[in-house]
Amino acid sequence: SSHASSALEPFELVQGEVQIISERLRHSVVSNVPALRSSAEYFFRPGLEGKRLRPTLVMLMASSLSPGAPGPDMLEADLRPASQHAPELRRRHQRLAEIAELIHVASLLHDDVIDDAATRRGISSLNFNVGNKMAILAGDFLLARASVTLAALRETRVVELMSQVLEDLVTGEIMQMTATRDQLLDQEFYLQKTYCKTASLMSNSAKSIAVLSGESEDVCNAAASFGRHIGLAFQIIDDVLDLTASSSILGKPALNDMKSGLATAPVLLAAEEQPELKAIILRKFKDSGDVHQAMGLIERSQGIQRARQLAEHHCFLASELIRGLPEAKSDHAKICRAGLMNIAEKVLNRSK
Ligand code: FPP
Ligand code: MG
Ligand code: MG
Repeated sequence: SSHASSALEPFELVQGEVQIISERLRHSVVSNVPALRSSAEYFFRPGLEGKRLRPTLVMLMASSLSPGAPGPDMLEADLRPASQHAPELRRRHQRLAEIAELIHVASLLHDDVIDDAATRRGISSLNFNVGNKMAILAGDFLLARASVTLAALRETRVVELMSQVLEDLVTGEIMQMTATRDQLLDQEFYLQKTYCKTASLMSNSAKSIAVLSGESEDVCNAAASFGRHIGLAFQIIDDVLDLTASSSILGKPALNDMKSGLATAPVLLAAEEQPELKAIILRKFKDSGDVHQAMGLIERSQGIQRARQLAEHHCFLASELIRGLPEAKSDHAKICRAGLMNIAEKVLNRSK
């Protein structure tokens, strides 16, 4: 029935709570210095929050491990007396979602400086509007606010996990910048870099949720693996969309990866069938007509289909990890687990 399927609609299951998290994020990036305030809140303004995939994943993971459904009292911002606040553990889970989103947006601000990008989420990038210096400092400011929220959790294991994310983001970016000729053509290198740039945040956030819940080592590791697989699948689909979707749908230029010199999963898989692609990959699509010629070669290969299959494989593994969790503590937890598996499917079928 339509009711049963909407009960599994993952974004709806935690929509109210993710809304509250967005609101808190807007409050948490306030500064007394007007220029800093307007830069820091740039991508937290209503309508510019993106898909909010990370807070959704994080809160669904929290619910999947919890004994019951969050009551209406858990959906309120902290503007009320402390006695009426959401139960402590749920509040800590919400803080983790905020931290994950702060780190994510900070990495985008820095990334757009590095890539000299003019657009993001369908509007001008922050660096385009306020310059590189302000954009970098705004990213640093978001990381500072994330650090304060992280410290306030008083859970050093979670500090370790989320600090590892920062190291991985930087490592992934440098791996990409400094790849040798062999590495440029290497699928394994691509997957390691992709773990660092995209999947580490999802993996360590999911694991942090399990740690905050006091789960066993096995459950913490399953949560981490779930985040890793869904992150890899998400990025591989991102790479496919870069080749197949239009810039108006993506909110950034189409064929952006190749134009920036990057060979992603579908391109590397295509190169196995069309060796001519290898020379183009090695010269980073720089000669005139390279992007066009590469597209022709990719279209004559199974690269895009094989990349989709690789993403499907990672989504399958992500779902298996959810199925393998110890028995759910409530019906609501069961529904949220179905929601997590549904997200895995949504990641595969998304168009932007
Ligand atoms: C987007 O990649 C970029 C990232 C996911 C991570 C970028 C990481 C850094 C800039 C390192 C320093 C950051 C912090 C905050 C520790 P992309 O350029 O491939 O994708 P795009 O199409 O979204 O621009
Ligand atoms: Mg970029
Ligand atoms: Mg980049």
